[in-house]
Amino acid sequence: MDAQKVKITTPKESSTYEIGIGSGLLTNCGAWAKTCLPSLTGAAKKIAIVSNKKVFGLYGAAVEKSLRRAGYKTCVWLMSDGEKYKDLNSLQKLLAFLGKEKLTRSDAILALGGGVVGDLAGFAASIYLRGIPVLQVPTTLLAQIDSSVGGKTAVNTPFGKNLIGNFYQPHGVLIDVDTLGTLPPRELTAGFCEAIKQAALAGGALFTRTKRFLETFDPRDRARIDKIAIIELIKGQVAFKAKIVAGDHRESLLRQDGKSRKILNFGHTTAHALEKVTHYQQLKHGEAVGYGLLVAGEISKSLGVLDANGLKSLKDVVKQAGPLPPLHNITPEKIYRATVFDKKNLGGVISWVLLKEIGQPVIVGDDKIPAATIKNAIRTILK
Ligand SMILES: NC(=O)c1ccc[n+]([C@@H]2O[C@H](COP(=O)([O-])OP(=O)(O)OC[C@H]3O[C@@H](n4cnc5c(N)ncnc54)[C@H](O)[C@@H]3O)[C@@H](O)[C@H]2O)c1
Repeated sequence: MDAQKVKITTPKESSTYEIGIGSGLLTNCGAWAKTCLPSLTGAAKKIAIVSNKKVFGLYGAAVEKSLRRAGYKTCVWLMSDGEKYKDLNSLQKLLAFLGKEKLTRSDAILALGGGVVGDLAGFAASIYLRGIPVLQVPTTLLAQIDSSVGGKTAVNTPFGKNLIGNFYQPHGVLIDVDTLGTLPPRELTAGFCEAIKQAALAGGALFTRTKRFLETFDPRDRARIDKIAIIELIKGQVAFKAKIVAGDHRESLLRQDGKSRKILNFGHTTAHALEKVTHYQQLKHGEAVGYGLLVAGEISKSLGVLDANGLKSLKDVVKQAGPLPPLHNITPEKIYRATVFDKKNLGGVISWVLLKEIGQPVIVGDDKIPAATIKNAIRTILK
């Protein structure tokens, strides 16, 4: 099957790269890498594959074989699996590995895995030798529609999530939807919550397509993923993200409009708070975003910004993504406090992304939202 293509250009960084989406693409990723990486005369370049044991065990051999067939030397570095390993310690180990393997600026990193692998590998690529090319080969739905696109890279720190990082665009993104066939159902639900986030921000055809896809899809039945439909859905999702990133690639602090990159934080104020109060253990990131969308919807409705139909559409589609894990023993007060914990870091105001209607995001400072409204919205969702 030929790959569908979406081009992403960030004019201020003079960067353009292509996102290829299709089925059966991994076995040809060596030839794809050649089209993405600047060609050099002389010796074959080396590609460091960064992954984890689980993903590499599933897809590593196919990727490595294809890269070698295309003339690349390869080396492999596997990180431990899990959000808690997206940290400075893993980063240091990866940088040491790249040094030991003597990667030069004409070599590259290929990130094979979910958002954790992609964020860590992307950040390492951005600082090793002041920057070497990185190729993203995302294998979770969340990474395919969101984290591999747009160039945000980061690691977590003891003082917060994603607080050390960089904006660094990859040289190419290859999305093989066949990898979704091995993804656990909860990871699919998590990915669909991020897809709903983007669909609700975009509105129109993307919202309809996402909703239609979910109407007939059960995350527990991943063997039945309709490949043509999921390729079209991912294409629409990345095209939306590419458009937003192209207009505001570094998420300008000054912008508050409905097309700024900040809108992609829809659902994330509550999501980050929930992840924090559950010690990053109870919820997948995308599941926390699912809850966050519902809270933002409730606040929008309470402020009279979003009407009842709009809120219902949002709630219905989140429900279709699959069950969100129940949240026991967490009070609305605790979640609310976690939403404002790093207010100082954010210039004293938290920007809430709310909806005027599906497809019409609006950014509102928390100084304009009564605390009781936020707490009530959280209370409603916890029920
Ligand atoms: N850079 C960005 O713009 C951006 C955007 C959103 C999220 N993120 C980051 O992404 C991360 C979350 O990413 P994620 O949801 O992909 O989680 P993840 O990378 O932890 O992957 C989830 C799990 O699925 C496994 N896995 C991956 N691919 C698989 C496959 N094909 N088959 C079976 N198992 C597979 C992984 O080993 C892991 O256990 C967070 O760290 C978040 O901060 C970054």
